[in-house]
Amino acid sequence: MKEVVASAPCKTILFGEHAVVYGYPAIATAINLRVRTKIRKVNGELIIHSRDLKVTWKRKQSVPKEFLPIYKVIEDISDLIDQKPLNGMHIEIFSDVPPSCGLGTSAATAVSVITAMLEFLEINYDKNFINKLAFNAEKISHGTPSGIDNTVATFGGLIRYVKSNSGPNIERSKYTPEFTLILADSGLPRSTKHAVKNVAILREHFPRVIEDIFSIMGKISDEAWTLLSKAGENLKTIGYLMNINHGLLDAIGVNLPELETLVNIARKNGALGAKITGAGLGGFIIALAESAAVHKICSAIKNYARLVLIAKPDSKGCLVESKVKN
Ligand code: PMV
Repeated sequence: MKEVVASAPCKTILFGEHAVVYGYPAIATAINLRVRTKIRKVNGELIIHSRDLKVTWKRKQSVPKEFLPIYKVIEDISDLIDQKPLNGMHIEIFSDVPPSCGLGTSAATAVSVITAMLEFLEINYDKNFINKLAFNAEKISHGTPSGIDNTVATFGGLIRYVKSNSGPNIERSKYTPEFTLILADSGLPRSTKHAVKNVAILREHFPRVIEDIFSIMGKISDEAWTLLSKAGENLKTIGYLMNINHGLLDAIGVNLPELETLVNIARKNGALGAKITGAGLGGFIIALAESAAVHKICSAIKNYARLVLIAKPDSKGCLVESKVKN
């Protein structure tokens, strides 16, 4: 039975979230937690099933909103090969992390579905093409995404990302740093759209102040990029920069007492630095830790978090994990 399994990494923003929306640099890394898509051949049907969302869709039903980005992917690929409707596939999606938690699962889902579909349909592709289709899907998920998530899910590794009118400027580090991140989920629901809008309103009220904060966030990203993109990175300094960045995220109003508690517990138990990651107002914090401190931080933080994950930067990007030809 023809079957393909492809996967794409989730991501965490290390520096520069929110400022990146206004053209300042952000640093993100792929992490070794993945979303996987398995496609197998079925006759005359198109079925999408998400294990994590517990949602199943069949061609004749109306598309549930959770699957609209994937439906966009299917439409784009069906246009590309001029095959309508595109049937004959059972698409199953499953992830190492919960959905909608700020770890880039929507982009990793889109990228893994695209990679699996292109491979299943034997269409020639390169990663730039995957990234482009995934960005279209991200527009359905997030309205005006920066493009950072689909880029990291596609190429993996550590990236410096600057948004601009003429398209994003993306630098990929040749070196993937080796450190451990502890990711702690506040369990509070979050919405990137809502947080970005709140920050936009604050910026309208205090344009010069907020612009200056964004500018400092950009400088922090650049300092961190210099340290991170070479071997022997100075983790202590990177931790300090994370703490400063967290303070500025607090200043632009995306912190919450529950997130602050997680950050404080991580720092108290030996983290080199800790901050909100992603949009904030819920979701995860990340803490940078030396190996010796990981256990202590996890034990302390798990009493306050819905979920605690341990992750390392991942350099592979999207990939085909297995393929059975017929
Ligand atoms: O929480 P996430 O992973 O959706 O990240 C949002 C990052 C922002 O900078 C706040 C928005 C964006 O589109 O870059």
